[in-house]
Amino acid sequence: MPHTLKLDSPSIFIGKQGNGVISFGSGQPDLPPPKEAIEGIDIRKDLRYGLIQGERSLREALSKEYPNSTAENFVITNGASEALDLIFRAWGKGKVLLPRPYYYSYPPIIKLAGMEPVYTDLVGGRIDLDDFKKKIKKCRAVLINSPSNPTGRIELIETLKEIERITSKLGVYVVSDEVYKDLIYERENYHIQGDHVITVNSFSKTYAMCGVRVGYLWSSDQSIADKVIELKTHTSMNTNLVGQDMALRAMAAPREYILNQQQIWRGRRDLIYKGISELGFEVWKPEGAFYILPKCKNAREFLTTLYCDYKVIAYLGEWFGAPDHIRLSYALDAKEIEEGLGRITEAMKKVRCL
Ligand SMILES: Cc1ncc(COP(=O)(O)O)c(C=O)c1O
Repeated sequence: MPHTLKLDSPSIFIGKQGNGVISFGSGQPDLPPPKEAIEGIDIRKDLRYGLIQGERSLREALSKEYPNSTAENFVITNGASEALDLIFRAWGKGKVLLPRPYYYSYPPIIKLAGMEPVYTDLVGGRIDLDDFKKKIKKCRAVLINSPSNPTGRIELIETLKEIERITSKLGVYVVSDEVYKDLIYERENYHIQGDHVITVNSFSKTYAMCGVRVGYLWSSDQSIADKVIELKTHTSMNTNLVGQDMALRAMAAPREYILNQQQIWRGRRDLIYKGISELGFEVWKPEGAFYILPKCKNAREFLTTLYCDYKVIAYLGEWFGAPDHIRLSYALDAKEIEEGLGRITEAMKKVRCL
């Protein structure tokens, strides 16, 4: 009897591990956090309520990383996820332009906030400026994610500058989700700037601290922080203080921590990109983050076979607005990536996916 799997959402796979499973699903770094993040933590002083905006020491440390920012401009949140949720809920109406494929949580976050996503499809893995220019005029904001989950692509610097310029002229906000900004292996990135920009970031990926749930937003438009603080006061209140303490300590880790990680990710990218391409899949080469999005026919059947017969987890492109694709995360060590590629090769004998 053929297997059936209810592939409605990534939640069926999130947290699944052990028992011989190879998961190309989760966007969780498998590398350890910096030792500085954990050493010397004393949780006894972190058992009270904290400032809704976030601990001043952490905001001050962050403001040193972003030119023209002050501690007042930051709000520390439960991961980048809460930052995004609060930003859109603070607006509550209007359209948001979303490059597609997108991180799967973007459309639900935007819709739950009462806003409407409008899509612009990537061409060759990059934003199509002509389509962008047509659609942006009717929008209140655009959500940019470079490097991107799920494509692993980085937008061209000229494109990011053009987006910065056009949106500034039109008075459209840019929400720049930069959770992968430190995971780049091809070239420099460009951080969109200006009073109309809200930068979102997190300690989840750079410092391998996903479960600690510390992220932040900042904008030089102080009214954004004020609105978000008001919402947060009546919802989650302060972000967990132990986590903020860990985040502050992580920032004191030597730069080598991040540089070493980049080298490891680059090696894994090379391995999976070569393996997936040699198997015949059509795919954009990832330049950052740790995801790859190959084209795949019969993606539901292939994913079901991979999981049920070969204990391999991969995510459905459909969840990211990319039907006929699958998304693989390479947050796995090289041995597991090789084993996983071997199992994919076997599954390809059962399901026609090219
Ligand atoms: C593009 C993107 N933004 C935000 C998040 C959420 O990150 P956090 O753990 O900081 O909530 C993720 C997680 O995978 C992501 O890929």
